[in-house]
Amino acid sequence: MPKKVRKAVFPVGGLGTRFLPATKAMPKEMLPVVDKPLIQYAVEEARDAGIEEFIFVTGRGKTIIEDHFDRSYELESVLIERQKNDVLKEIQNSVPKAGSIAYIRQQEPLGLGHAVWCAKRLVGDEPFAVILADDLILADTPCLAQMTAAREKVGGGNMLAVMEVPNEHTSRYGILGPGKEHENLIEIKSLVEKPSPANAPSNLAVIGRYILEPNIFSLLENQARGAGNEIQLTDALSAMLGRAPFNGMKFEGTRYDCGDKIGFLEANIAFALNREDMKADVTNIVKKIADKL
Ligand code: UTP
Repeated sequence: MPKKVRKAVFPVGGLGTRFLPATKAMPKEMLPVVDKPLIQYAVEEARDAGIEEFIFVTGRGKTIIEDHFDRSYELESVLIERQKNDVLKEIQNSVPKAGSIAYIRQQEPLGLGHAVWCAKRLVGDEPFAVILADDLILADTPCLAQMTAAREKVGGGNMLAVMEVPNEHTSRYGILGPGKEHENLIEIKSLVEKPSPANAPSNLAVIGRYILEPNIFSLLENQARGAGNEIQLTDALSAMLGRAPFNGMKFEGTRYDCGDKIGFLEANIAFALNREDMKADVTNIVKKIADKL
């Protein structure tokens, strides 16, 4: 049995420039899909995969995320007084256990690779998950749980969630060069950050779910700048290929890029349609709008 994945890193230090002006003062990870902030979906997905420690890499203007995962006595006492027990329970359950949540600041948003590196001391010497909250996945089994199960089957190693993207979109993602395929797992032979369609080794894109071995930290240590002059996680992953088992997992489910305005709108409609209490109303609204097109 490989070592259990107990810790998850949530990089939330980015500036969210694709979602301005909404993200000027509010972290993009706090944008709600239906009635829940993106970051809460991410934490719940981690919890469902057996994660016990939650590490947030934050930045300036992100303290509201800390408040969201804290107790709110004033609010709770009002909810008790008004006997709103369901929502009270929901709010209390969303707070991770005392001592299981930690925050570290990335003083400058130098890139995803740098954000992950900032969590080095908090992760220590064990495998860990990285979840990008703006990649929201609607699935019967949460994506990270699919990954931890697949990783146990293959005996450990690095695992990245991957999906097929249209050829003309390869320049938006890290793209992998595939090796052997077995069921939903693909051996990763190479990784390229944001290649043009002509230079892309496939149309298999890495999305925001990773399980990584701790030696990634020594590769992030030299902090070389890559695409977009950012310290890229993909570059460090690329340097690790061939030294350790590396698999891409085609997950079951639909991924929405909620860091993008259109992806975010689509996610809101899809998640609302997935809720029994909203499905009928939202279907009517969507039909009414579509009729006018
Ligand atoms: P993105 O590139 O999607 O986020 O990074 P961004 O930079 O905030 O957004 P845009 O492109 O300007 O709109 C993916 C994830 O990595 C985090 C982001 O917060 C996001 O969750 N990130 C990115 C950091 O934590 N630090 C960084 O320096 C860069």
